Amino acid sequence: ITEEARALLADRIHDVPDYPKPGVVFKDITPLLADPTAFATLTDVLAGAVARHGATKVVGLEARGFILAAPAAVRAGVGFVPVRKAGKLPGATLAQAYELEYGSAEIEVHAEDLTPEDRVLVIDDVLATGGTAEASVQLIRRAGARVAGVAMLLELGFLDGRAKLEPALAGAPLESL
Ligand code: PRP
Repeated sequence: ITEEARALLADRIHDVPDYPKPGVVFKDITPLLADPTAFATLTDVLAGAVARHGATKVVGLEARGFILAAPAAVRAGVGFVPVRKAGKLPGATLAQAYELEYGSAEIEVHAEDLTPEDRVLVIDDVLATGGTAEASVQLIRRAGARVAGVAMLLELGFLDGRAKLEPALAGAPLESL
């Protein structure tokens, strides 16, 4: 990614203080999505990561991850596979539970969408605690596919999700823009 592209993307991500609760600064990506130049720039960068890592599939994480991952998959000429919150996929699924700050959550993927021949790039908007990305990596491995890497628009460094995710990645790259 060029410094010019990085500056454009950063400019179009707005900080919203005290959302969704007091003391939290929410990173709002909707201004980036509404700007066709910025969104196309992001799509090009992510599609470049798909090619660079030799990925054969892109996994996007519900919901904001879908918005970034699907156009990148189309641009790169590979398939898109949604990892959804539990209970949304109609076919035979693999499920992975993970811990939240309070309680737990579960994500699912259609087992038949990933094969042992696949190398998968995971794309999402934000790496926070790393729990969602770690669970998605575990799902991909359980489906028999290989993990080519994880690409994030934003990484909230102070939450140290990278440290949580890296053991699951087993050497596969984690990139944040
Ligand atoms: C956000 C974000 C990531 C996840 C990161 O999704 O889009 O998927 O949280 O958090 P973690 O690193 O602590 O696991 P959210 O659950 O808010 O869902 P949304 O995309 O549907 O808004």
